[in-house]
Amino acid sequence: MMLPLLLHRGLLRPLLSTWLAFVLLFSATTAYESVSDETLRSLPRPGKDFDIHDGALLAPILVPRVSGTAGSTAVLNHLADFIRTTLPDWTIQFQNSTSKTPVSKGKEIPFVNLIASRDPPGTSPGDVGRLTLVAHYDSKYEPQGFIGAIDSAAPCAIIMHTMRSIDSAMTKKWEDMRATGQLNQLEEQQGIQVIFMDGEEAFKEWTASDSLYGARSLAEQWDAEVHPAMSVYRSPLDSISLFVLLDLLGAKEPTIQSFFPTTHWAYKKLATLERRLRELKQLQSSDPGRSWFPHLAKSEHEIPLYMRIEDDHIPFLRRGVEVLHIIDAGDRGFPKVWHTMQDDGEHLDLDTVEDWSVLFTAFAAEWMELEGFMDASQIHKRSVTDAWHKTEFLQL
Ligand SMILES: *[C@@H]1O[C@H](CO)[C@@H](O)[C@H](O)[C@H]1NC(C)=O
Ligand SMILES: [Zn+2]
Repeated sequence: MMLPLLLHRGLLRPLLSTWLAFVLLFSATTAYESVSDETLRSLPRPGKDFDIHDGALLAPILVPRVSGTAGSTAVLNHLADFIRTTLPDWTIQFQNSTSKTPVSKGKEIPFVNLIASRDPPGTSPGDVGRLTLVAHYDSKYEPQGFIGAIDSAAPCAIIMHTMRSIDSAMTKKWEDMRATGQLNQLEEQQGIQVIFMDGEEAFKEWTASDSLYGARSLAEQWDAEVHPAMSVYRSPLDSISLFVLLDLLGAKEPTIQSFFPTTHWAYKKLATLERRLRELKQLQSSDPGRSWFPHLAKSEHEIPLYMRIEDDHIPFLRRGVEVLHIIDAGDRGFPKVWHTMQDDGEHLDLDTVEDWSVLFTAFAAEWMELEGFMDASQIHKRSVTDAWHKTEFLQL
């Protein structure tokens, strides 16, 4: 199942010149840097923003939001407003499609994916590889009034907290790089993007055509869109360095398996961060004896390959995108509340939700190589650098 799919990506490589291939190879070996214990101890916390009744990030998502309904539009506006007001350096894009569903009586239902991205300044879009964080914001059609807190309101809020927690560190890092002449075309360019996906849930019964409406449309469009000639990456799809899909997160004591040998190294990075954060007593849901990641000690040859979970990654995986699927699916299956009316705010384990947001912040900080730019003392340094840049600019 896996191998022919990976060959598809392999076919693209000969199209690149040796020089570009070298740049890609170089990037692949350097695009990750561990953060210090000091950084792990000072990561921002979501605090009251994850309150299920009036928290600024999470509460507005804990409503029914079936694709094509007013609830869906309200949540989409909440996500877009958060980015526009809190993260003005990010670019927002919508990718729209329509489809009939088994319950739409022949009517076309709109599906709207929200893509927010931030690239290093002065780069061409075709030359930037992007860490890609993904969660679906739609909720299930049935049972009526279904909330979907772990599925996937909490994952959306976890990603929102991650975005804002690394934003100023990226600004600072890129300012430093520009000041020291490192932001040139020969260097690896790493950006980040977030996809809030629509239409993940089936309306009636999960089939190939009744599920993954948003993901299928986006993967198809991004595969067909081609970057200008001589770009490092052929298409927006090829620009995805790692597709990190968060789903069914927010129940206590999750079990996260490693599903793909080619991204097992990234699984281990995330699992190692969880262990370090726990040892440093930075996690609220502390159960010192139990890791969330049972495959940490395994090699990529030892992870089980029998488990196949259909989720938003599938249309991307089939086109050769590298995927890290973070979904709570242990021997007992999905969390107990899955696809029931109990999957609501009250049944979330908020300590676990907070821990996830801290863990993904740490992972994104490592991926974006933000060590030295994350801690609180940098906020002061940053304003000094800002002033210095302004002075320099005026002198020019
Ligand atoms: C896609 O839909 C959104 C929300 O309805 C709308 O704001 C946006 O303009 C649409 N974009 C395009 C390209 O049609
Ligand atoms: Zn679901």
